[in-house]
Amino acid sequence: VPLAGVIGWPIAHSRSPRLHGHWLQRYGLKGHYVPLPVRPEHLAEVLRTLPRAGFVGVNVTIPHKEAVLALADVVTDRAALIGAANTLIFRPDGKIHADNTDGYGFIANLRQSAPDWIPEFGPAAILGAGGAARAVVASLLDAGVPEVRLANRTRLRAEQIRSEFGARVVVYDWGQAGNMLEGVATAVNATSLGMEGAGSLRVPLDALPPEALATDLVYTPLDTPFLIDARARGCQTVDGLGMLLHQAAPGFERWFGRKPEVDDELRRAVL
Ligand code: ATR
Repeated sequence: VPLAGVIGWPIAHSRSPRLHGHWLQRYGLKGHYVPLPVRPEHLAEVLRTLPRAGFVGVNVTIPHKEAVLALADVVTDRAALIGAANTLIFRPDGKIHADNTDGYGFIANLRQSAPDWIPEFGPAAILGAGGAARAVVASLLDAGVPEVRLANRTRLRAEQIRSEFGARVVVYDWGQAGNMLEGVATAVNATSLGMEGAGSLRVPLDALPPEALATDLVYTPLDTPFLIDARARGCQTVDGLGMLLHQAAPGFERWFGRKPEVDDELRRAVL
């Protein structure tokens, strides 16, 4: 029976066990997916041991997503570019393969939820420059977006992304974030602002074109103030839960041998 799970510290709030558990049950597959609370100082030891205990792989979440890169034997190009991994595959030869499916999940969610969205149509504006934003930038550039505009409270993190991802990335000052929305086809909140218990996003959306697609990585609440404001301007909006669901699919397929569906039944199971 294949075993998989999610490694984090803390891990109690992860939705991944419910997500994978739903798929295992739906498809009648043998296997288990468990939450694994692992302290940073134990990460290396746990990764060496899990394959010997029947694990075929794990998802990785905060605070381990960067650290696992140094512990993996093979790192995919996209995980290396993003600088973090969220999916590990323990291969039969003992090697640990690290991938990052966050960007894949981001794009797959937009393609499913907004089939008319065309990345090539215009610049994308991204608020935030943390780990999640890096995956979003990588995937948007990959999808053919002509220009990625970035604004972050800590400007240096945005400059760092520009220096690693190249000239299609343009950095704006956090105070000018409202201005960077002019003429964009895609707008993304990749900050934690708008999340329950966090501060509110104070970027004015007056320049956001009504034709633009707006999406948020925050999914608690599902309908964030950013999405509500964008919708009031006439924009199509896509919530952040779908990205979480889609990023899980490649790992599930590798570990349990079946390509899973992302649909409303899954959304209800995870919420
Ligand atoms: P994640 O992996 O979710 O991206 P992260 O790397 O901690 O997590 O990034 C959080 C993002 O939210 C960052 O862009 C952060 O801005 P800084 O780089 O300046 O920290 C942004 N963020 C968090 N709290 C914020 C606040 N009060 N105002 C503006 N931006 C904030």
